[in-house]
Amino acid sequence: MKFFVDTADIAAIRELVDLGMVDGVTTNPSLIMKSGRDIKEVTKEICDLVPGPVSAETVALDAEGMIAEGRELAKIAPNITIKVPLTWAGLKACKVLTEEGRMVNVTLCFSANQALLAAKAGATFISPFIGRLDDLNIDGMDLIADIRQIYDNYEFKTQILAASIRTANHMSEAAKIGADVATAPPSVIKAMASHALTDKGLDQFLKDWAETGQKIL
Ligand code: E4P
Repeated sequence: MKFFVDTADIAAIRELVDLGMVDGVTTNPSLIMKSGRDIKEVTKEICDLVPGPVSAETVALDAEGMIAEGRELAKIAPNITIKVPLTWAGLKACKVLTEEGRMVNVTLCFSANQALLAAKAGATFISPFIGRLDDLNIDGMDLIADIRQIYDNYEFKTQILAASIRTANHMSEAAKIGADVATAPPSVIKAMASHALTDKGLDQFLKDWAETGQKIL
């Protein structure tokens, strides 16, 4: 499973890039707002840092507007993936932009039918939002499994990009189901390294080591 980082925070992306943990980046209007930066400037910096796909989201509501914004965002760098919402207009924009040879990420997906339409429209990525479904007491992971089954049934090439990931557990569950990509905030990716038994074990080893009075260096 590829790891995308869901942030526009350059320092956080750089730290994970240095560890080889970043295959791409996703941003959205809320994350751009949080960064306090100009969308084109910050996105360019991210694209220079990460060779993989970097999603930049359109904000128009009509297809023509999304297409125009998508073409403008695509000028930032060759690895830009144009993010459009899963609306009827978004599907139209997806089809046009895909036919122009651009990568398109169809976002805000909350049902298997929406994902089916996005695949038919040629999307490069479909972004089902796990956490926001969980918030409503609907198991977001079931949606990932449904989409996996449908895409496999018909050999759709659209990649499942598990989004709205809130916990380290979401990452392993998405990987078990076979999501192609998961996008998560840096804090979640870091949390994947934590285990209470690792901390406890390390504590004990250090206590015992101190008893030996030895030094390695
Ligand atoms: C994905 O592309 C979205 O930017 C993101 O995963 C949304 O996550 P949230 O529901 O935590 O805002």
